[in-house]
Amino acid sequence: MTAQAFWDRQAPKYAKKPIADLTAYEEKLRYVKAILHPTDQVLEIGCGTGGTARNIAPAVAHVTATDLSAEMIRIALSRSEGYAAGKPEFLQAEASKEILGHPFDVICAFSLLHLVDDIPEVLDAVFSQLKPGGHFVSKTVCLKDAPRWIQALVRMLMAVRIAPKVIILSRTELTRQLIRAGFHIDQTKYFGKNRTSPFIVARRPVD
Ligand SMILES: C[S@@+](CC[C@H](N)C(=O)[O-])C[C@H]1O[C@@H](n2cnc3c(N)ncnc32)[C@H](O)[C@@H]1O
Repeated sequence: MTAQAFWDRQAPKYAKKPIADLTAYEEKLRYVKAILHPTDQVLEIGCGTGGTARNIAPAVAHVTATDLSAEMIRIALSRSEGYAAGKPEFLQAEASKEILGHPFDVICAFSLLHLVDDIPEVLDAVFSQLKPGGHFVSKTVCLKDAPRWIQALVRMLMAVRIAPKVIILSRTELTRQLIRAGFHIDQTKYFGKNRTSPFIVARRPVD
């Protein structure tokens, strides 16, 4: 099964699932909004059903939000009906695809990088679509930092196709890949009790 087929099938269930740790999610949003400016052009890749994009949109000039799954985008669009000002633009697109409207001031990727086929390819695409001085904000699962039994469980769930294909990497490896792509790391932190999904703010240096 392709990744797109997997996420299309997951979308209706994903849309109904409550946010696991609402306090941590709201703290993440506060940190994201602290980086944003009212004039910013923002891209969110792997936006799912668009909750974060809708939340961010009123704080900036424009949000383009993309996802591989047509079904996720269909739900995101239907949930945005009735929004006037501050409505994100939703597009179906793979994370490494160049998106009209670049260069962006800020690019976000939440719970995404561990799911793509090729992290360096996505990081290169993000870097090239950012303005010099622009920020890349990521929060993604680094399963290599999780207990071994959790890694084993995820591998088992992948084998029976209950879990999507996941890249098992550590925060150190992810940080190295960001630096290789040319980013400077501005901050890394965790929200709530979770210590396996670092929130990382990386910056494209000014040339
Ligand atoms: C775990 S969900 C996270 C959704 C949202 N960012 C959030 O935090 O709720 C992962 C999302 O990434 C999307 N996705 C997976 N692989 C992708 C890829 N290669 N390019 C773009 N989106 C992808 C899936 O369709 C899904 O909507």
